[in-house]
Amino acid sequence: MAVIENSKLTVVGAGSVGSSTAYAALIRGSARHVALYDIATAKVEAEVLDLAHGTQFTGTSDITGGSDISVIEGSHVVVITAGAKQKPGQTRIELAGVNARILKSMMPQLLEVAPNAIYVIVTNPCDVLTVLAQEQTGLPPERIFASGTVLDTSRLRWKLGERAGVSTSSVHAYIVGEHGDTEFPLWSKATIGAVPLLDWETDGHPRMTQDELEQIAIDVRDAAYKVIQGKGATNYAIGLSSARIVEAILNDEHAVMPVSSVLHDFHGVDGVALSVPSIVSAAGAVPIRETAFAPNEHGLFLRSAEALREVADSLR
Ligand code: LAC
Repeated sequence: MAVIENSKLTVVGAGSVGSSTAYAALIRGSARHVALYDIATAKVEAEVLDLAHGTQFTGTSDITGGSDISVIEGSHVVVITAGAKQKPGQTRIELAGVNARILKSMMPQLLEVAPNAIYVIVTNPCDVLTVLAQEQTGLPPERIFASGTVLDTSRLRWKLGERAGVSTSSVHAYIVGEHGDTEFPLWSKATIGAVPLLDWETDGHPRMTQDELEQIAIDVRDAAYKVIQGKGATNYAIGLSSARIVEAILNDEHAVMPVSSVLHDFHGVDGVALSVPSIVSAAGAVPIRETAFAPNEHGLFLRSAEALREVADSLR
């Protein structure tokens, strides 16, 4: 139940990610009002109709939308999914130029219509787009951030939960850094219940080896490539992840999530958006400074920051 009364979420972009986000938000009751906005009139109207036709079964949230920018008015949260998507084999970073242009042209209009909203950027490369949009808009970093590695973290917890024979919610582990090829798990802090990951052992679930963990990290990093190869896009898991972030904001949850906001003086990183465990509430996302990195993890973190800084610099 949203703490913000008559809470409104607008999803920008009625492609597979945007529509799945709206669908997940309706089913989960993430916001009282869900709106879908896209410049492609026929497409967005069809998606809104299709979603509306199911609202007998989705609780009390309603869905509206269309191609008129006024759709966005009154939003507490705006989730941005518009832009080009990865083709099979293409990296997220390869979308930077085209999607940065799209976002840059869109941000002033969005801000004019929804000046008080919290902006969640899902379009890839989400970290790079976040730093550029934060600079362009001048919004405080906590009010414009990316879904980041919330999805990758869910992928990691799913894999570890399966391997260890426990539910995903009992795995405490994070993927941090870029939402993309330089991301990595914070293995040094990972536990199952209160047991360090490498000590976990139950009947039928022998101890995990270092090699196995390395393979799991690679599988998680490359998970989207595999899905895109098979079906042309990822949409359900990112839709759920985005809806979950929206809930944490609208319910003022103070939930710890690895979202990506522009970091300042954070473990040696400045002026780059990267995912780190952050507190997500009605005020937005605040990185948790006390997050500790093992020395090798800190090296990976800086490497991820450098890679993203280069891409953002090339677009400024
Ligand atoms: C993925 C896309 C959303 O990781 O980047 O599925």
